[in-house]
Amino acid sequence: MLNSTQKVDVIVNEKIGTISPYLHGQFAEHLGELIYPGIWVGEDSKIPNLGGIRKDIVAALQPLHLPVTRWPGGCFADGYHWRNGIGERARRPLRINYYWGMAPEPNTFGTHEFMAFCRAIGTEPYFTGNAGSGSPQEIGDWVEYCNFVGDSSLSQERRENGSAEPFDVKFWAVGNENWGCGGRMDPESYAATYTRMRTSMFDYSGTAVHGIACGASGNDWVWTRKVMDYFKNKHWNHLGTVQSLAAHFYCGTAGTATEYTSAQWLELLARSAAIEGIITGHRAIMDEFDPQRNVNLIVDEWGTWHPVESGKPGSGLYQQNTMRDACVAALTLDIFNNHADKIYMANIAQLINVLQALLLVQEDRCIKTPTYLIYDLYQPHKDAQAVRLVSHADVISDGGASAEFCRDQFIDRSLVALQAAQGSASVKNGVLCITVVNTHPEQALDLEIALTGGMLGDVEIVRLVNNDIHAHNTFANPDAVTLSEPQTSHVDGSTMHVQLPAASVTRIIGKLS
Ligand code: AHR
Repeated sequence: MLNSTQKVDVIVNEKIGTISPYLHGQFAEHLGELIYPGIWVGEDSKIPNLGGIRKDIVAALQPLHLPVTRWPGGCFADGYHWRNGIGERARRPLRINYYWGMAPEPNTFGTHEFMAFCRAIGTEPYFTGNAGSGSPQEIGDWVEYCNFVGDSSLSQERRENGSAEPFDVKFWAVGNENWGCGGRMDPESYAATYTRMRTSMFDYSGTAVHGIACGASGNDWVWTRKVMDYFKNKHWNHLGTVQSLAAHFYCGTAGTATEYTSAQWLELLARSAAIEGIITGHRAIMDEFDPQRNVNLIVDEWGTWHPVESGKPGSGLYQQNTMRDACVAALTLDIFNNHADKIYMANIAQLINVLQALLLVQEDRCIKTPTYLIYDLYQPHKDAQAVRLVSHADVISDGGASAEFCRDQFIDRSLVALQAAQGSASVKNGVLCITVVNTHPEQALDLEIALTGGMLGDVEIVRLVNNDIHAHNTFANPDAVTLSEPQTSHVDGSTMHVQLPAASVTRIIGKLS
């Protein structure tokens, strides 16, 4: 039985770094029902739309101020040829989505449509170029098409296709998972491919390319070491061409999306907490080659991966999203905040209808998942100064991490450890924001928070909580899970006690004195 009082220290004067807003990044791949009809329904659809883009998702996403969205893949990116997605829609070629069920890909949603979506929701674009089956010329032309202001046949073509102004796309990845679906390359061949392709990607008209190289899956330290070694030491130092290295980490599943035991709840949360070791491990290797930290670490894809919901095609990766996914999201965002000095961007997989989605859509309806609510709850952390939160809470699970899972995800079992209360803290404009997850599926906690370096008076408390650990929103009951109304509480001095219901996420905000 767990001790019902657990303790965390919040050390306000121990600064970690500014929390990059890009930690709330998103990922939208041509996969299953994400692009069609998750984003794009076409101008003639009965579903209300703005030039083909669903109005309901735009209305739902705008308030989250999502900083960046990665597109068009994923695995899809290394089979995608951008020229297929420009020009008159009716004349665009019908291709096959090789990676995701050989589904028809009409190319209706291409560069201009994605940019219109980005503008509608207020997010920055992040393009993944094709390194698996594309060429340096192809990716270089895409950059020029998007960003060049002056006269060239490519910039002229962009204008003829409706965009007089350049798109100013800053973030460009060279391929995706090039150790797997993106060409099955070894680290040295990939680093050589990156270097060659990156050489064709120029800074046009004031938009500097932020080049993103493919990083490791899970704790594949060998990949990180070998690509960093190549970039740094292969004949010449090419590290300056790599602005970020993008690792992927999926914590997987335990049970199904909506059916799991308390033990499986703990198992999945513990696995998700293993991302702590993944970040620390990759950053330590990167630091050996790049002690000045000029190369950023990105977690380009992360999240849960449950069995596909029955009745949906296996290749569509459609899954429901419960309180358990919300706790995974909260734990992960807290871990990212605690590594604000190491991580620059993180993109959850994926935005709509695929894997750990923020939104689910069906016909003309759109619902917010519990994961969406976490992105809402955690907004005050963006651009704030992360300060140290040390949890003294008991370790309650090693996730029972199976040897198989560890092998598949390249996770060392020793990385998997879950505390009863985990969280993060940040300060912006003199306001302290603490977020904390009670990871226990059954036991409420009395959390003692000891503050050093500041005092609080009145605080506002908002929770994501539900009596049922399986609770989720459905099209029939879209508000089964919501954030609580804010409550005000008063803190005397530097110690406060906050009740954390079982399986919940709590945000505490207050002005520091
Ligand atoms: O997010 C789904 C897939 O997972 C992506 O296409 C790929 O990069 C990863 O393996």
